Amino acid sequence: MAVNFNGKHLEKFISEYEYTALYPQVELAHKLLESKTGPGNDFLGWMNLPETYDKEEFARIKAAAEKIRNDSDVLLVAGIGGSYLGARAVIEACEGVYHNELANGPKIYFCGNSISPSALNDIIALTKGKRFSINVISKSGTTTETALAFRVLRKLLVDAVGEQEADSRIYATTDRAKGTLKQLADSRGWPTFVVPDDVGGRYSVLTAVGLLPIAVAGIDIDKLMQGAADGMKLFGECSMENPAYKYAMTRTILYRKGKKVETLACFEPDFAMMSEWFKQLYGESEGKDQKGLMPTSCIFSTDLHSMGQYLQDGSRIMFETFVDVKQPAKDLYLEELEGNFDGLNFLSGQNMSVVNRKAMEGTILAHTDGGVPVGLIEVDALDAYNMGLLIYFFWKGCAVSGYMLGVNPFDQPGVESYKKNMFALMGKPGYEGMKAELEAKLK
Ligand code: PA5
Repeated sequence: MAVNFNGKHLEKFISEYEYTALYPQVELAHKLLESKTGPGNDFLGWMNLPETYDKEEFARIKAAAEKIRNDSDVLLVAGIGGSYLGARAVIEACEGVYHNELANGPKIYFCGNSISPSALNDIIALTKGKRFSINVISKSGTTTETALAFRVLRKLLVDAVGEQEADSRIYATTDRAKGTLKQLADSRGWPTFVVPDDVGGRYSVLTAVGLLPIAVAGIDIDKLMQGAADGMKLFGECSMENPAYKYAMTRTILYRKGKKVETLACFEPDFAMMSEWFKQLYGESEGKDQKGLMPTSCIFSTDLHSMGQYLQDGSRIMFETFVDVKQPAKDLYLEELEGNFDGLNFLSGQNMSVVNRKAMEGTILAHTDGGVPVGLIEVDALDAYNMGLLIYFFWKGCAVSGYMLGVNPFDQPGVESYKKNMFALMGKPGYEGMKAELEAKLK
């Protein structure tokens, strides 16, 4: 199996009986999903998406990506949260964190995911003298971070190439009918792509939200969708052996035993943004009603030199899920060094991936001995097909975990709080009542 959950290191922490005892709750969660009768049931479009996605739009995405690859040196992707993380995650996992420096296609820069003027100024500088296009992504069409960046970047584009040419270089991914972005796109004649009504932001990477930037990066989106379609079958069965359900059960059992933090760990730096995507998926889905595991992440062995001490020896509040990538994208043969100045000749004569694997095995044993339960998500490789599989694995595991936790895994009411405060503090019309009260609290 190209993506699997392996619990072989968990025996000392979870007995088989605990899985059996919990399983009826998995069956219930499965039933709620299949019958679309659980909380958040109007956001289940992701479940069949790998089969039911709009094929006509998919072809338009490929054509738009081809055009951008031919007429642009740079693609600026403006979006935040679910309208940002998935695309960047898949691109970096498949093409590497240095894809902009190493690949031949357009450079892809993500923006509109903060309100930092420094970050936006850097993006502006990166477009200097370059032919660039913009993909603005916002389901609601009203998100401040995205809208703020987009208004600046659109003006930059218009100033550089004129209004008419700019209109052919702006691609809007948004709601089918609603929102100011949709209205503006229609009035300017920009190519538009749809975020389906029944797919929430953090489940939208396999819609145009993720697919357009991913295709511009030269990644085979057919393979990505094929992986997800295979994941839909593999992780669709209601059984104890379903790897996504085993994962959901493992985290639920450990959470109920007092583990409040999950650390997703991987020995491949190219996986770092996939972990960010995972954190949004699980954090936004489960962190509500004053409960839920806190998702965190580490890249090893890098973070063994920072967080390693805590993981080994600090408060025993966490468990780890290691993403075990079986085949690295590239390997390096370690040659013998004359004089053996660094004392590392015992490693020579083999591939560096072997050393990385031994580091992983050593870490698993050390952390397990230190009282940290470790589960393994085994992935064949960081490529388009396997990322499709993995995305579906995480989606399914998240939905079932959320229902077992007793929350609505498809809403995010808490995200509004900071926005209301920010609008009030900035004097947005309609928020006048709150302004004075908040300012007094800041004194
Ligand atoms: O998961 C979510 O719904 C959020 O993270 C959104 O994706 C994020 O807030 C961006 O929203 P929008 O696409 O409406 O700009």
